[in-house]
Amino acid sequence: MLHLSFPNISHKTEFISMIEEWKSFEDTPTSPDTIFYGNTYEEFLERVYSELHNPPPGYVPATLFFIMEWSRILGAIHIRHNIDTPFLAKIWGHIGYGIRPSERNKWHATEWLRLWLIEAKNLWINQVMIWCYDDNIWSYRTIEKNNGKLDRYEDYNGKLARIYTIDL
Ligand SMILES: CC(C)(COP(=O)(O)OP(=O)(O)OC[C@H]1O[C@@H](n2cnc3c(N)ncnc32)[C@H](O)[C@@H]1OP(=O)(O)O)[C@@H](O)C(=O)NCCC(=O)NCCS
Repeated sequence: MLHLSFPNISHKTEFISMIEEWKSFEDTPTSPDTIFYGNTYEEFLERVYSELHNPPPGYVPATLFFIMEWSRILGAIHIRHNIDTPFLAKIWGHIGYGIRPSERNKWHATEWLRLWLIEAKNLWINQVMIWCYDDNIWSYRTIEKNNGKLDRYEDYNGKLARIYTIDL
């Protein structure tokens, strides 16, 4: 059963195997950034807790969940609680997410995003903003199948980025 889980020490072995798999694939985007933070699982966990409870200067509070099927980590989602900084409002928006390479193209991201949008509506967000690069067809199809509306294009890192909104 697909579900979201907040990271804890019991996920360590499964997490390490996911990251090793991810790094063995070349040229695949590494998103969300936080799962690649630090050199050890413990450093990653500390980062997750500090982003939630005591964000670094200039950051807004954010929650990271693993996307899981039973005990297997399929990927992760990073949710910014608001987009009240110029950079988040311009490009990054509320959500970053990724599915490990061996689990892609099985509609996990599409289904997961649908479930999470139901939760977001019950929580605190009226309109979700999500971005991806213009050549990331997998990501923008996931967003569009969840009623994402293309709001605008931005230049980011010298590449064209798509900015979507989803009304909840
Ligand atoms: C973007 C990402 C999360 C999509 O996850 P996913 O679970 O594979 O997505 P889904 O299986 O739900 O598929 C979404 C759409 O992309 C299409 N798709 C998925 N993998 C594909 C592939 N290898 N080739 C062509 N189309 C593909 C699917 O067919 C589907 O579209 P459709 O139903 O209209 O045909 C995943 O590719 C990923 O983690 N990429 C690296 C990180 C990243 O780019 N994150 C987003 C940053 S903004």
